[in-house]
Amino acid sequence: MKRLAIFASGGGSNAKALFEYFKDNEQIQLPLVIANKEGAGVFGVAASFGATAIWVKKSQLNNPDFLLPLLQQHRIDGILLAGFLLLIPPYLVAAYPKAILNIHPALLPKFGGAGMHGHHVHEAVLAAGETVSGPTVHLVNEQYDEGRILAQQTVPVLPDDTAETLARRVLEAEHQLYPKTVAAYFLR
Ligand code: GRF
Repeated sequence: MKRLAIFASGGGSNAKALFEYFKDNEQIQLPLVIANKEGAGVFGVAASFGATAIWVKKSQLNNPDFLLPLLQQHRIDGILLAGFLLLIPPYLVAAYPKAILNIHPALLPKFGGAGMHGHHVHEAVLAAGETVSGPTVHLVNEQYDEGRILAQQTVPVLPDDTAETLARRVLEAEHQLYPKTVAAYFLR
């Protein structure tokens, strides 16, 4: 059995998809949410699935003496980033080798890296004239969006797409791709 923590900064729709997928799963449990924005939507999501949600400031994330005991206390085996905007510090990557996953809303290695989040990603995809986009699930290392790619799912980019319509289509694909990739990876 694996106990995974979700790290999120925003609305938490991917967190919700993960909770729904694993709610009756005995092999994977999601007991803890770490959020770096007070009042983020993901707090409500965590509460509705009975998970503990903790607000962690950037300085606390970067402090191993704060974060590692917290994760150990909840017996966390791995971490799922779901719209988490802070860079994961090297000590955490070292503490959870090959056990931190992220979902990115574009087909990496294109359209990744610092600053490539939210609408910026979809605007860049449209500006480049891409005909397909879609989410990527990858392992996390010390660089933004550069760890090994585990899975991708493509969606079409339509001629009249805006960043908003494309984001919605990609997000729906994220909700399908992330849970099944997490299951395949941690239960391998
Ligand atoms: C998603 O688009 C994800 O790919 C990105 O951040 C967004 C989070 O959305 N990393 P939500 O909070 O899961 O709704």
